[in-house]
Amino acid sequence: MTVKELQELIIKEKKERGICILAHAYQRHDIWEVADYIGDSFGLSQEAAKVPENKVIMCGVRFMAETVKMLSPEKQVYLANPIAGCPMAEQIEPEMLAALKAENPDHTVVAYINTTAELKTLCDVAVTSSSAVKIIRNIENDKILFVPDCNLGDWISKQIPEKSLKMVHGGCPTHLRLTLADVEKARAAHPGAKILIHPESRPEVVLEADFVGSTTEIMAFAKKSDDKEFIIATENSIVEHLQFDCPDKSFYPLSKDCVCHNMQATTLVDVYRTVMGLGGEEILMSDELIRDSRKCIDAMLELGK
Ligand code: 13P
Ligand code: SF4
Repeated sequence: MTVKELQELIIKEKKERGICILAHAYQRHDIWEVADYIGDSFGLSQEAAKVPENKVIMCGVRFMAETVKMLSPEKQVYLANPIAGCPMAEQIEPEMLAALKAENPDHTVVAYINTTAELKTLCDVAVTSSSAVKIIRNIENDKILFVPDCNLGDWISKQIPEKSLKMVHGGCPTHLRLTLADVEKARAAHPGAKILIHPESRPEVVLEADFVGSTTEIMAFAKKSDDKEFIIATENSIVEHLQFDCPDKSFYPLSKDCVCHNMQATTLVDVYRTVMGLGGEEILMSDELIRDSRKCIDAMLELGK
């Protein structure tokens, strides 16, 4: 069977079975082509709350499937490949956050959406990379305890200096691989290219950006721009997607090492097997966990309107 034939089969079966397929922007292009919705973390969580189908397959990582389940508890939600987790989401144990909260009782606890459902039960508001600045600006309290990504936290602090962000050690292992030396090398190889950087990158790397944004914001910027060459500093799948969408422009990865093995773990075959009921993992969460973890997602959707 060819890739195209498998895609056609997935599209036919998902329609017949009333299944919605959600894909994060970092998924492979062959998966994008069978998805009903593609987006960044914020777009996916908004879409999750709206999809009419009773069965939803998330092609992404575990916390994203958990978010879909929190927002649609009545639906059957599947993670297409059960091994796809986000290492950053598991960096802070609930006990550690509980201790931090006790030490900082006057702080509003804000969690990057890349956290486990269990950790979210201890948080006041969730944010994504594209919604963080707006949402934190809208929080009345000036004292914020932000977990777990210090690089995103640093970038947010620079946009809203009037807020005081307390952070703990944490970050995305994929974006942490990007260094200032990579920027110098890429700039020397492509001197005219605009540099587009995800805020999960190190502060000294982010400072070199012509544009900073979430995955979909980076793609929208590159598509709209009159420039012809771009250095992309986020997961390298975005380089391929942009090259597909804009064949008249050139896209270069900032580093060949900016690959998230968890995001790339899901294959088209996993999607097919999940559609057919032969694979994937159904996300099961207790009513209590759903109730307590979705409060911070609801707060995010409310403050982000
Ligand atoms: P966004 O899609 O919000 O930019 O997040 C990137 C990411 O690393 C998701 O795991
Ligand atoms: Fe997690 Fe980083 Fe991979 Fe996103 S790119 S899933 S934040 S490890």
